[in-house]
Amino acid sequence: MADLKTIQNRIEKNYKHRAKWARKEGLEAFRIYEKDIPEFPFIVDVYKDYAVIYEKRDDEIDAEKFEHFNFIISAVKNVLNIPEEKVIIKSRTKQKGTTQYERLEERNEVMAVKEYQAEFLVNLHDYLDTGLFLDHRPMRQVLLKEARGKKFLNLFSYTGAVSVMAALGGASHVTSVDLSSTYQDWARKNFEHNKISLKEHNFIIQNALEYLEKAVNKFDLIFLDPPTFSNSKKMEDDFEVEKDQIVLIKNCLRLLNPNGILYFSNNKRKFKLDPMIQEIASVIDITDKTIPLDFRDRKIHHCFQITHLNSHLKKQS
Ligand SMILES: C[S@@+](CC[C@H](N)C(=O)[O-])C[C@H]1O[C@@H](n2cnc3c(N)ncnc32)[C@H](O)[C@@H]1O
Repeated sequence: MADLKTIQNRIEKNYKHRAKWARKEGLEAFRIYEKDIPEFPFIVDVYKDYAVIYEKRDDEIDAEKFEHFNFIISAVKNVLNIPEEKVIIKSRTKQKGTTQYERLEERNEVMAVKEYQAEFLVNLHDYLDTGLFLDHRPMRQVLLKEARGKKFLNLFSYTGAVSVMAALGGASHVTSVDLSSTYQDWARKNFEHNKISLKEHNFIIQNALEYLEKAVNKFDLIFLDPPTFSNSKKMEDDFEVEKDQIVLIKNCLRLLNPNGILYFSNNKRKFKLDPMIQEIASVIDITDKTIPLDFRDRKIHHCFQITHLNSHLKKQS
């Protein structure tokens, strides 16, 4: 049955369980609902005492879909015991070009949410994404644990959450590369918020593909997290992660120290790694280990650990 009671019971059950888990882990942003009931094909994330509901918008909205949408809003409000203003709706239409990164509003309301050792600044209203990709929470811990004394390169760095974690983990240097000055400013603010001095770290506003072609500095750890598709006005050619994976990975390997590790992640659902990569490097698919407990979608991203063929690194399985 697809009524208010059904969805409210499910949200309540999930929330109780996840909120307890999140408290124990030290997390203030987490997922509580992900299309669990087919008639309610929505996603709900909690950020402290706010909720963000993601809906997929088709061209036609029928009365039943609209009713279910209203039910989930009421259910979230009732279970979290929050007013309507704290329930934020994000409508995803089929992604066209750069729309993903465009501004929706100009409220500039920023708050900090705790994630283990760090606090990240999020803006729940102004963009389609909040400033923190929750699916990469486990990857951020991997980088925190591996960063000590390492030079770290974060490509397509967005708001720098991964960079912050690596810096908190003791990276000797972090370079973050992103095309957007807005997100690089945000990344700097994230560093400052976590009391990390900006002096040892670089924030480069550049097309990551161009950076990779020209860069000469070497790194011990690289996180490569490109969007599925990008066609910013600042770029001459469109970018598509499957088409461009070889050039990206080859260039990262060129900048990777002999015993370094490259983590390559992307959100293309049907992504296939080009078999050629396995001929030029050692590759381990670590996707399963990098999907958070609060995510049902095991294909939210694909993640690979890539090392040089002759690396002395003890292989992790
Ligand atoms: C981390 S990526 C993708 C994140 C997430 N994996 C996803 O698919 O939505 C998002 C970031 O890539 C940046 N970006 C997009 N195209 C870029 C390019 N060619 N060079 C550098 N940064 C780019 C955007 O500014 C944004 O901050």
